[in-house]
Amino acid sequence: MKMMRKITVRNSKNTRRVLEIDDTHMVIFDDFRNVKLNEKADLVFADPPFGINFKGNLQTYHRKPDALSYVEVPKEEYPDFIRSLLEWSYNILKDSGSMWLLSGWNNLRVVLDTVEDVGFIQLNHCIWKYQFGVFTRRRFTTSHYHLLLLVKDEDNYTFNKPEHYAEDVWYIKRPYHHGEKTAGNELPDELVEKCIRTSSNKGDLVVDPVLGSGTTMRVCLKLDRRCIGIEINPELEKRIKQKLGLDLFRKPKNQSSGDSHG
Ligand SMILES: C[S@@+](CC[C@H](N)C(=O)[O-])C[C@H]1O[C@@H](n2cnc3c(N)ncnc32)[C@H](O)[C@@H]1O
Repeated sequence: MKMMRKITVRNSKNTRRVLEIDDTHMVIFDDFRNVKLNEKADLVFADPPFGINFKGNLQTYHRKPDALSYVEVPKEEYPDFIRSLLEWSYNILKDSGSMWLLSGWNNLRVVLDTVEDVGFIQLNHCIWKYQFGVFTRRRFTTSHYHLLLLVKDEDNYTFNKPEHYAEDVWYIKRPYHHGEKTAGNELPDELVEKCIRTSSNKGDLVVDPVLGSGTTMRVCLKLDRRCIGIEINPELEKRIKQKLGLDLFRKPKNQSSGDSHG
């Protein structure tokens, strides 16, 4: 494969933690709103918190207290959070770039309004149907997510059609993680892979501003996409490294040399 362009991010006064996997894959532990990139991205993949006071573990999913902490956004702050995520993503994307944005149904109205306000064009509204949901007594069990495919220019974007008759309802199983410490809400690789294959090419820069356990990074490593992942919760470092099969952690280079990371 031809040499892939190295990725860098701008200096910041924060002494944020950076996990450099190699020259073209990096995880930054920070709020995405603090991160400035040196290069425009081809694709943003974002699976943000849903603003429904999801605790990532315990009561909701009747799990043992083994899930790693997950930073939720309070419901009242959700409209501002989604706006900043969409504006940030719009600004870091190339004119030909795309964004995959996941949403639950509870705050979908806010999400769809903000998508338009920010200037994105919605190409598709896909449904991911998974095989189980949280048991409910007096309402139907939710067992789907919404996946919005957004572009900046409807005449100029990447679309690698996955099959001849490609429909917008996807049946993909959630993996079970028996006895494994997970980040609470991890997406199946298959789902992320479908989005990334469809909307980017080898060597393209993919950015996930709400990385979680590192699923997007794992898929990008597999598919030869460059990737910057941003995660506000440094406690997830362990899970990310486990998912990527890594055991390397370095301090931001600017702490010692003042150069491009950090
Ligand atoms: C739904 S999870 C992502 C799960 C991920 N797709 C996976 O497969 O593991 C959303 C993540 O966004 C993180 N997050 C919340 N607010 C953030 C912010 N302002 N900046 C960066 N990450 C944030 C949470 O800590 C959580 O890990």
